[in-house]
Amino acid sequence: GKQAGRGAPPAISAVAATHAARQLTIVYGSQTGNAKRVAESLAERTGALGLNTRVLRADRYATRELKDEHLLYIVMSTQGEGEPPDDSLGFVEFLSSRRAPKLPQLKYAVLGLGDSSYPLFCGIAQNIDARLAELGAQRVHDLGTADLDIETVALPWQDATIAVAQKALKQAEAPGASVTPLHPKAARVTREQPYLAELLLNQAVTGRDSQKDVRHLEISLEGSQLSYQPGDALGVWPTQSEALVQAVLAALRLDAGEAVEINKVSRSLKEWLTHHRELTQLTKPFLAAHAELAQSAALQALLQADAFDALKEFLGTRQLIDVLKEYPAKWTAQGLVKALRPLTPRMYSIASSQAAVDAEVHLTLANVAYEYEGENRWGVASNFLTRLAEGDKLPIFIEENPRFRLPADNSRDVIMIGPGTGIAPFRAFVQERSAAGASGRNWLFFGNPHFSSDFLYQTEWQRALKDGDLDRLDLAFSRDQGEKIYVQHRLLERAAELYDWIQGGAHVYVCGDATRMAKDVHQALLRIAQEEGGLDEAQAKQWLDDLAAQGRYARDVY
Ligand code: 2AM
Repeated sequence: GKQAGRGAPPAISAVAATHAARQLTIVYGSQTGNAKRVAESLAERTGALGLNTRVLRADRYATRELKDEHLLYIVMSTQGEGEPPDDSLGFVEFLSSRRAPKLPQLKYAVLGLGDSSYPLFCGIAQNIDARLAELGAQRVHDLGTADLDIETVALPWQDATIAVAQKALKQAEAPGASVTPLHPKAARVTREQPYLAELLLNQAVTGRDSQKDVRHLEISLEGSQLSYQPGDALGVWPTQSEALVQAVLAALRLDAGEAVEINKVSRSLKEWLTHHRELTQLTKPFLAAHAELAQSAALQALLQADAFDALKEFLGTRQLIDVLKEYPAKWTAQGLVKALRPLTPRMYSIASSQAAVDAEVHLTLANVAYEYEGENRWGVASNFLTRLAEGDKLPIFIEENPRFRLPADNSRDVIMIGPGTGIAPFRAFVQERSAAGASGRNWLFFGNPHFSSDFLYQTEWQRALKDGDLDRLDLAFSRDQGEKIYVQHRLLERAAELYDWIQGGAHVYVCGDATRMAKDVHQALLRIAQEEGGLDEAQAKQWLDDLAAQGRYARDVY
């Protein structure tokens, strides 16, 4: 999840938005930065061709301009369970509402980004694409649905829509129209060209008797010239475990050394599987291809529209290796590599401030491990990182998160809600505010199963309280008593003071689990506004929406 404020790149208007008829508008909705990246690279390319282009984050787009828009491209992510990114809630709501105007003058194309390991893959983009047609707009290119590996679908979609834009806008003034570079001088390290950093420390921060294995990692940026701000994320390119690669090869009776060429790149099958393909997440497109090869009626049935819940359950519990074993099929090496999703980097909220740790970056990482039918399963990146030893190297890059920033004004209070590994960015926030001598107060809500084993960074928080770097700390140890106590319960207990802080200008931040925690915390905040502010339900919703729009309610949830 990603969020505005100090250092946020402004919504970029490559050329001032004067002649809508001659202009391409690109609107994006991005949770983790992928849609932003695709939208900005599209704008860079059309801008370089001399096309009058502007690119805007969805919450910076004035929807009243829609009726005057002539060429509109939308790049929109869908979050896991079929929700729009936080920055697009207003845009999506407006479009689907009765307030949306007829748009006969509009030509458009939509690119969806999603995760095909969820059944509602690219659902939001699909809805927007259909809704614009319903409003009378003309679709100039088919909906693109790009999986986590953006390149396979997004690049061809860009090529095609750029050609359309060139035709549609060919009357535009010749180049010369100066195009502002979209990024300040690109840094040498990028997602595609990561920096090979050295691991300095890998330490368990949960106790021996914890059900969890949470790690504190310290990574050196010495000599890299990389820098980051609190709220940013670190991208990590993982390596698949040797054992898993061997298991896949054995299940399919394929030869590790067989050369496979894809898009003119030739590598051994083992190399493809180890560094370039997803093996731990199962996707719907792969399952469809496998069902065909395996001639499995059971798998085919799962892919029917009415099997939605069963498919969701299946994708959520099985990994590739389980399917290969349960439903044998004859794959060729080439076919397999083509059908598997390209490996993508994983993002971790950074747990340190450079004001405190200088040329280092720290992470708080939960090792995602579980059992399926008696066998151990891991998440690819957490397993890779957990097993790294001090001195090992790992490929990293920085992913900016301009929507999750400390207030520019240091006298503002901040309220941080971060159970579990959601604590990470708040360690960075408190370090930063301490180093800056910020006069605003800091209030942290943290939760985890047990005080004795799961109080992450306990001694640091105690010192921060003592030193005045942290003003308030509220803890929710969910399993230390009969009934569950969660952070949202603590919020409700402190309703009056919280409402006071917020009405006094405090910024509220939430980091951690998106599916349950963030929703329950959201509900708690709505309730607090109703009980303490005397607002009705609609007013409370408006109050929280306004806070979000002002950048005073930001979420980094996953
Ligand atoms: P539990 O696992 O004991 O239910 C970090 O994972 C902490 O968040 C744990 O204490 C976990 O409690 C808790 N948690 C689980 N579901 C939650 C929810 N809906 N809201 C807030 N916290 C939750």
